[in-house]
Amino acid sequence: MPQNAARKQKAVEAQTETEPVILLDHISELVTLAGPAAPRRGAQMRELGIVRDAAVLISGGQIVAVGTHREISRSAWLKQHRREVIELDCRGKLVTPGFVDSHTHPVFAAPRLVDFEKRAAGASYEEIAAAGGGIRASIDGVRRATESALAAQVSTALRQAQAQGTTTIEAKSGYGLDAASELKSLKAIRRAASEWPGTVVSTFLGAHVVPPEFKSIPDAYVDLLCRELLPKVTRAKLAQYVDVFCERGAFTLAQTERILSAATAHKLRTRVHVGQLTNTPLADVLKHSPASLDHLDHLTAADIKALAATNTVATLLPGANYFLATKAYPPARKLIAAGAAVALATDYNPGTSPTISMPMILSLACTQMKMTVAEALTAATINGAHALELGARKGSVEPGKDADLAFFELDDHRELAYWFGANHTVAVMMAGRFADLG
Ligand code: NIG
Ligand code: FE
Repeated sequence: MPQNAARKQKAVEAQTETEPVILLDHISELVTLAGPAAPRRGAQMRELGIVRDAAVLISGGQIVAVGTHREISRSAWLKQHRREVIELDCRGKLVTPGFVDSHTHPVFAAPRLVDFEKRAAGASYEEIAAAGGGIRASIDGVRRATESALAAQVSTALRQAQAQGTTTIEAKSGYGLDAASELKSLKAIRRAASEWPGTVVSTFLGAHVVPPEFKSIPDAYVDLLCRELLPKVTRAKLAQYVDVFCERGAFTLAQTERILSAATAHKLRTRVHVGQLTNTPLADVLKHSPASLDHLDHLTAADIKALAATNTVATLLPGANYFLATKAYPPARKLIAAGAAVALATDYNPGTSPTISMPMILSLACTQMKMTVAEALTAATINGAHALELGARKGSVEPGKDADLAFFELDDHRELAYWFGANHTVAVMMAGRFADLG
């Protein structure tokens, strides 16, 4: 190769190295989720913006253009950049926005197999917790583990999530439950996140349960959280959100409100586990404008109406219902009919939902909560992005958004929820780069 041609070639390679320009062409079915810059509600949740024989143009980690093959092949931008474009033929592939899993608890040391066997023998989640199992059974392992061991656990979870099409994930602390172990858990999330090409949103869940040493003085633990831990978490920029498990056996509504107020005073955003086992009226929680309320198995008609009138996303976690074999699932149909912005997430954790598979959650949403596949996909992508207040960057395939995509060896998006327990993910792209699914 003549010298300047070689130099030119190198320059193109260097450019594609830092800023690859990619044309995904002839995508059999592309689910764009294109639509308003807001969480989708009611009938909007059925609008997937499907394009067949589609093309997506990606540059600098972002989506530049989306359309049919015919439309994109005529684009002026493409004509101008043709020489530097890497073209990929996506025939036979279903492409969707990468899943946004907006609720997980990946910082734990070991599975809870004893609890699992006790439940199979007939004990309930609350009975097991009262007998010393449940969340408290995960504390020791996290307190004893090193930060790097926990980071390795989180990294494994992130790899498993990406292998099933997830490109953005929320991750909570919440099994350390003392100052050192909660900070260690959040640092483990930060370390694992720095090594993963996807996006991790970090949540401080020091208020998961009252740890054993504060059993008789729970308010003193709330003091510790508000006065010592929240300032430390804020100063070290270890979390974007504060979460509270507001439930019988965990934190009362009054304690929850104290923690939410303290979080807001520290300029941290909030989200709340609520209504999982019993009903807590939502009006007082909603006054704190949480980004999401999660679980919501036990809701009154008034709660549904109040929630639907706000920007707070209703995040449903049917993996927990499946694993605990609860009698009822969250009232997804009523929430959608009322106009609430519904999201779906895995709730990946060792006690109630040891799955990191969003396709499995789609299946549960459709079979058990009677959501349509379109509603479930909307809930698992764009509405999940809004639950993490990342709706402007994530959750749909539209120009200007991050190029976070999932590729499946499927012909029709409905198959994602149909083939339960199977994984058809063949590739994921995060910020314009393909990840190794190995
Ligand atoms: O979201 N509900 C509280 N937290 C988890 C369960 C945690 C556990 O049992 O380890 C949940 O279901
Ligand atoms: Fe949870």
